[in-house]
Amino acid sequence: MVSLKLDGLGARYGRTEIFAEITTDWLKGGELTALIGPNAAGKSTLFKRIAGLMSGPGVVAIEDVREGRLPVCYMPQDTGANAVLTVYESVLLAAKQGSGWRVAESDLAAIDRILGALKITDLGFRDLGALSGGQRQLVAIAQALVRRPETLLMDEPTSALDLHRQIEVLDFMRGLAADQGMAVLIALHDLNHALRYCAQTMVISGGQLIASGPSRKVITPEMLRDVYRVEARIEHCSQGMPLVIVDRALNAA
Ligand SMILES: Nc1ncnc2c1ncn2[C@@H]1O[C@H](COP(=O)(O)OP(=O)(O)O)[C@@H](O)[C@H]1O
Ligand SMILES: [Mg+2]
Repeated sequence: MVSLKLDGLGARYGRTEIFAEITTDWLKGGELTALIGPNAAGKSTLFKRIAGLMSGPGVVAIEDVREGRLPVCYMPQDTGANAVLTVYESVLLAAKQGSGWRVAESDLAAIDRILGALKITDLGFRDLGALSGGQRQLVAIAQALVRRPETLLMDEPTSALDLHRQIEVLDFMRGLAADQGMAVLIALHDLNHALRYCAQTMVISGGQLIASGPSRKVITPEMLRDVYRVEARIEHCSQGMPLVIVDRALNAA
């Protein structure tokens, strides 16, 4: 099973340092890890740094990548829609990225399987440019999965999805991570989703990794006060699940 470790990772745009010295324990495949933090904390930048799309200090170690698998795939937040392609073509293009253009029967079968699993088979012949934001987000997930990544970095993959689709996607990704031993990092704003679907949570804020560990240990009223500046409680529902309840936004100290 794949495992991933960040060691002293940093990133900057020009002279502006976004984060520094981010070091984690080994993150194991098989489960979802939430990446949380306020707007502009550097979540997307951290993903780009992990995916090797930016250089900087520190090391990303990825071990036990299986034959024929992509070590890391970054699924961006804003998936620019290329209006010239259909959904099916765009997923095929993603599948063939970096592996030559010969299309095998097995490529088409894999695309059909992934579109089916995401319940977007009926979008196959639609133009990418004519989709809703939520539909585009589902297509972006298909484009990422068809590349067979060992580590998948999903940047706010549920932000444009309706409630039903959010739950479907998180549930699906959790199952996929477990079945395939993939390491899946998901940047999220809904902390109840992090609590419910992600075994681990990493918090970045102020250019640092503030906390990292089991979601239920990391998401606490103290963290919510310090990082998000809200007064909040963790209550337990009638089924014993923890829930974040926010009472008010705190003024700057
Ligand atoms: N290409 C860029 N050039 C310069 N600054 C950037 C660039 N991309 C992001 N930033 C800045 O870096 C900071 C972190 O951005 P980002 O990683 O997108 O945060 P998040 O995903 O947590 O909202 C923000 O202040 C943002 O304005
Ligand atoms: Mg972002």
